[in-house]
Amino acid sequence: MATPHISAEKGDFAKTVLMPGDPLRAKFIAETFLTDAVEVNHTRGILGYTGLYKGKRVSVMASGMGCPSIGIYSHELFNFYDVENIIRIGSAGALSERLKVRDIVAGIGSNTTSSYAEQYHMPGTLAPTADYTLLSTAVDCAKARKIEMHVGNLLCSDAFYNEGGMAETVSWAKMGTLAVEMESTALYLEAARAGKRALTIVTISDHLITGEATTAEERQNTFTQMMEIALDTAAR
Ligand code: ADE
Repeated sequence: MATPHISAEKGDFAKTVLMPGDPLRAKFIAETFLTDAVEVNHTRGILGYTGLYKGKRVSVMASGMGCPSIGIYSHELFNFYDVENIIRIGSAGALSERLKVRDIVAGIGSNTTSSYAEQYHMPGTLAPTADYTLLSTAVDCAKARKIEMHVGNLLCSDAFYNEGGMAETVSWAKMGTLAVEMESTALYLEAARAGKRALTIVTISDHLITGEATTAEERQNTFTQMMEIALDTAAR
């Protein structure tokens, strides 16, 4: 039973799928944290694995970058593979002076410049939000590991290289938006439409206000903490 973009069989995915953007990060998570991991997808290099974490079946599969890409994979997982929960784990640029690089942020809501929601023809403005149960579980899991995790709104942008520059950044920052990434809106909308659950957790890789950036090695360490929060949430 393949879908247009996933070659796995029905039942190959666990109820909860962790989604990093990068396929090699999916491989790293499977090799580092899962036992008995098997590769369930490699179509278009979007690597997917299912294995055990703390005795519970968990999957990890890459999303690629941007709303169109995560929209395709989350749609197929929710609607054709009976996946119930998707936890995106990615990177983001900070928009708030309260944040430093390497901080971890969970996105309660997803502001956006994406037109992804237009397909639903809503008679007003839709608010793409995280699932409360996944979010509160992740908050508990972060506390249990004594890892500080900020919770607030993200900006899901359609353009990494943005002609609008600082003026646009400041407008989103003024409205309390914590960080910018590129996938949360499509993920939250796909979950809402399918009646399923989604959450986005990001690590700050660069700071749009202060110009601060992380080295690859620093990123790897904090990414590990974010992965552990997501895995603990999946195993609850
Ligand atoms: N992901 C990490 N940093 C980002 C940025 N500055 N803009 C959009 N997505 C990002």
